[in-house]
Order: sequence, then structure tokens, then C-alpha cells
Amino acid sequence: MQYLIHRGEKIPLIGFGTYRLGRSEKAAEIETIRYGMDKLGMTLLDTAEMYGSGLSEEILGECIRSYDRSSLFIVDKILPSNAHKGQYLECCRQSLRRLGTDYIDLYLLHWKGPVDLQDMADNMQKLVEQGLIRHWGVSNFDTHEMQQLFACKNGQNCFCDQILYNICERGAEYDLIPWCKQHGVLVMGYSPLCNCREARTNVTSDRLIISSAQARGQTPESLMLSFVVRNKDIITVFKTSDISHLTNNMQNVFAPFSEAEMSVLCTKYKPPAKKYPLEKI
Ligand SMILES: NC(=O)c1ccc[n+]([C@@H]2O[C@H](COP(=O)([O-])OP(=O)(O)OC[C@H]3O[C@@H](n4cnc5c(N)ncnc54)[C@H](OP(=O)(O)O)[C@@H]3O)[C@@H](O)[C@H]2O)c1
Repeated sequence: MQYLIHRGEKIPLIGFGTYRLGRSEKAAEIETIRYGMDKLGMTLLDTAEMYGSGLSEEILGECIRSYDRSSLFIVDKILPSNAHKGQYLECCRQSLRRLGTDYIDLYLLHWKGPVDLQDMADNMQKLVEQGLIRHWGVSNFDTHEMQQLFACKNGQNCFCDQILYNICERGAEYDLIPWCKQHGVLVMGYSPLCNCREARTNVTSDRLIISSAQARGQTPESLMLSFVVRNKDIITVFKTSDISHLTNNMQNVFAPFSEAEMSVLCTKYKPPAKKYPLEKI
């Protein structure tokens, strides 16, 4: 595994997503995540109260039960409808109960919705003060929303923006990713394998991707992950419940791209030439 350091935290560049966990055989799901933690250093684990209405947190909780908690970096998310004064504390406690842990490393507002950002930042700060979370951040925030957040008291404490980012969805490179870098906000890309089978297959069956991956000693899926973490300043989480997918995906994943390789890829998978609103899943 390779890591980056952000605000003093050493964080794996690649971790596990858990969206749709609970749809395969539970034992295989747990075995796959544990394999990733034990053999591949994938100790960054991403979940949300929304995923399976808490089921994903419960399965992840089972997964990590026998692990040294301090070796893990657990990311969890609160729904916008729960992020207000009357609800946030109980929701955070429920997530902690399902995970079977005393604290969350990074707690994100899942998307902006109608949330009062000052209220949300105040509530997140209280959770930090109570030791229930170590850091807080947001997800699916575009640049203007980050600017609104930074205008709030303690808004600058936002640790991370988790966004859709993959080889086909590069819009955030135009201004959001530069803005986050400039303001010390970590970018975590989600759906690095394009989330759904059809979109992923469009990439993995593309001759350009296949030949580029072969030349790099990778599978097409592994190349997709390499693309997201290529500069080692963005982290990502992908989901799999299949050990053979997992090992394939991590094959040579940190091999650097040469300028020539990157310019070939960019002929088809182009960087944005203008601002596009941030895409979300
Ligand atoms: N903040 C947000 O709003 C948000 C939104 C979406 C996702 N996320 C987070 O980001 C994580 C990752 O995103 P994602 O789950 O949407 O999509 P993803 O990681 O891009 O793709 C996951 C899908 O790819 C399949 N897959 C993985 N490796 C494969 C391989 N080698 N060959 C064929 N299929 C393969 C998985 O199926 P198998 O299990 O069969 O391998 C799964 O169906 C989520 O799990 C979640 O934690 C956050």
C-alpha cells in the first residue's frame, strides 16, 4: 500500500467502499475485506448510515471486530436529513453501535441537501469535542458549496470532500480539485470503477485501455484505479466482494504513468476544458 499524509494523518491511497454490501454472501464479503486489510494494507474503510439502512455498517463492524482499531481509518456518512441539532448526536451514536467502535475517524455529510452549513459545522465540531469522531468533512460538494462552507465559523476544519471521480468523470479537475488542494481539503474519489457494470465495461473493453493496461502489467480495472491515485494526492475507495477481483484490481496499481502513457489515455479520456457541475451518484 502507498499512503499520503493529510493534516498529520497517514491515510492509504486506496481503500474499501461498502455501498451495496449485504447483497452477496456475507462470509465472502467479510473474507474479501479482511483479505484486503491483511494482505494489501487496505485499512481505509468507507461506509454510510444510508447503505442498506445500516446493514453495511453492521457487516463492516463484524469485519473489524478482531482488529486493532488504531490501525484502521473508518469513514462514515450522515444523511443531510439527520445532520441537524435534534438528530445528529443520536445518529452518530447509532452508527457507532452498528460499527461496534467508540469513534469514527472521518464523518462526512453525505450530500448538501437543505442543510444549514453553520449548524452542521457546529454539530460536527461538538462530535469532535466529545471524541465520537476524529475529523469531519463533506461529500458531493461542488466548488461553490465548499466556498459557502469555508465562509462558516470552523468551516475550514473540513478535512475532506468525497466526490465522484474516475477516468470517465474528470470534471472536478477543472476547479474543484485545485480549490480543495489550495485550501487543504483532501479529495477522496468514489466509484473509481464507474459504479455500474455497463459504464465499467465500456472502459474495460476499450482497446486503448486494454493495450495500455497490458503494457503496464495490469488489468483494465487496475488501470482505472491507478488513474485516480496517479498523483498520490487523491485517495479512493472501491467496492468488491470478490477476492479475485480484489487482487486483480490491486495488480501493479501504484506503477507511475509515463507522460507518453498519460497523453495517449487523454486523447480519449479528456480532462475538462470548462466547468461542469459536479456529477453525483
Ligand atoms: N459519497 C457518495 O455519495 C458515494 C456514492 C457512491 C459510492 N460511494 C462510496 O464509494 C465506494 C465505491 O464506489 P461504488 O461502489 O459506487 O463503485 P465502484 O467501486 O466504482 O464499483 C464497484 C462495482 O465494481 C465491481 N467490480 C470491482 N472490481 C471488479 C472487477 N475486477 N471485475 C468486475 N467487476 C468489478 C463490484 O462488483 P464485485 O463486488 O462483484 O467485484 C461492484 O459492483 C462505494 O462502495 C461507497 O463506499 C460514495
